[in-house]
Amino acid sequence: MTALVRPTVELYDTWAACVGEFENEPGHIHASATWLIDREPETTREYCAELVAAIEANADASRVQPEGIVPADTYWVTDDGDDGDRVVVGFLQLRHTLTERLREIGGHVGYSIRPSYRRRGHAGRALRLSMERARDLDLGRLLVTCHDDNPASARTIERAGGVLEDTRNGVRRYWIDL
Ligand SMILES: CC(C)(COP(=O)(O)OP(=O)(O)OC[C@H]1O[C@@H](n2cnc3c(N)ncnc32)[C@H](O)[C@@H]1OP(=O)(O)O)[C@@H](O)C(=O)NCCC(=O)NCCS
Repeated sequence: MTALVRPTVELYDTWAACVGEFENEPGHIHASATWLIDREPETTREYCAELVAAIEANADASRVQPEGIVPADTYWVTDDGDDGDRVVVGFLQLRHTLTERLREIGGHVGYSIRPSYRRRGHAGRALRLSMERARDLDLGRLLVTCHDDNPASARTIERAGGVLEDTRNGVRRYWIDL
């Protein structure tokens, strides 16, 4: 069953395996929050611990955030493994507010699912779970964006009720009413 869990070093092994699967994909891993750490991402336990702490600080709306970074809840998307343990299958980030840039690209929610767990419904379920969290934050509606050439993400957003407002510079901008 797909779940959104708060990052924890207890899931280090499966987090590292998940991150490792993205090495052949260009750019940063969507919603991994690795941009909170000012150096190249690693899959070491030390880096994982640093990232977990940075993600916790980023979720605290009362703290001053780094320049250009808004408070956000970063989750690890998990599934049940064969042995009953949780498997990290991806990442989802729910931003509490929008900047001018996030209004153009990025929106409130970002997500990615590791290649070996795609097309099993995880992104769709994770996005729906994030909508419940967003209701708790009284966000009212969510902006979710994707590139025009990303049919998997567009479908995920549309299945969650996203209504296309417009496309700007190749980026589709959808609103999901909560
Ligand atoms: C986009 C992404 C998160 C989708 O994850 P996923 O877990 O495979 O998606 P789901 O299994 O929940 O599928 C959601 C919908 O998209 C469809 N879909 C999934 N992959 C697809 C593909 N490659 N082409 C077309 N449709 C696709 C599914 O069929 C499903 O639609 P349905 O409910 O009508 O059957 C995943 O492909 C990914 O991580 N991509 C790289 C990162 C990324 O692009 N993140 C989004 C940035 S905006």
